[in-house]
Amino acid sequence: MARVLLITGASSGIGAATARAAAAAGWQVALMARSGDKLAALAAEPVFDGAALVLPADVADYAATRDAVAQTVARFGALDAVFANAGRGVSTPGTEQGDPQEWRAVVDANIMGVLHTAHAALPALRESRGHMVLTGSAAGRRHISGSVYGATKWFVHGYAGNLSEEMRAWGGRCTVIAPGMVDTPFFDSAKPDALRAEAVARAVLFALDQDLGTEMREIFLTPTR
Ligand SMILES: NC(=O)c1ccc[n+]([C@@H]2O[C@H](COP(=O)([O-])OP(=O)(O)OC[C@H]3O[C@@H](n4cnc5c(N)ncnc54)[C@H](OP(=O)(O)O)[C@@H]3O)[C@@H](O)[C@H]2O)c1
Repeated sequence: MARVLLITGASSGIGAATARAAAAAGWQVALMARSGDKLAALAAEPVFDGAALVLPADVADYAATRDAVAQTVARFGALDAVFANAGRGVSTPGTEQGDPQEWRAVVDANIMGVLHTAHAALPALRESRGHMVLTGSAAGRRHISGSVYGATKWFVHGYAGNLSEEMRAWGGRCTVIAPGMVDTPFFDSAKPDALRAEAVARAVLFALDQDLGTEMREIFLTPTR
């Protein structure tokens, strides 16, 4: 039976690359993001063989996130892993120059979105002794002047360890992926010296493919250029 992976932030960048890699490796995939049109275009790619589930939803909305998890279980019969990857940056960096309204949206997506996803998914993951993978960041491992975005990723790293401890009580596992700069639509311009989204996708699958006796708690990726 093919394993089932739900990916948030699947409509572009790291999430889309992971969806393609997972489908190629035989996973059944459920694709969640706000942009239904982008998800539909992705799901139409041959690698998905018409079997990907498209779930337009906002992770900041708990009811919508819970519904996306329920739809995944209803379609595929189980949930083996969740990649809580949805996230966004800020347009004005720093604290003094930053925009509190924008911080609210960033906190809702990067912090509340991860919490909503975990809360909605844990009952199904408990059934499968499943795996949560969270997208942290190099920005969640070091201090960057005034970075509110970076601080949301410090939350993700701290929470990932706490979630590992919670999930291990029933044999579940949690991994935080910490990429340095990745060349994705996260940025307005191309970043030729950054990591490729496909490299991050390989790291996600590597964590998911460990034997049940092994929990890979963190993978830290940094570009060589
Ligand atoms: N690029 C980097 O250098 C880098 C480095 C370290 C970590 N990260 C993290 O990697 C993750 C993916 O980013 P990316 O680089 O792949 O950028 P991206 O191409 O902009 O992808 C972000 C994804 O998150 C989705 N998303 C954003 N807000 C959402 C919300 N409220 N609800 C549901 N989906 C939402 C977006 O889709 P919709 O707009 O359609 O909702 C999109 O699919 C993020 O958590 C980011 O912080 C990125």
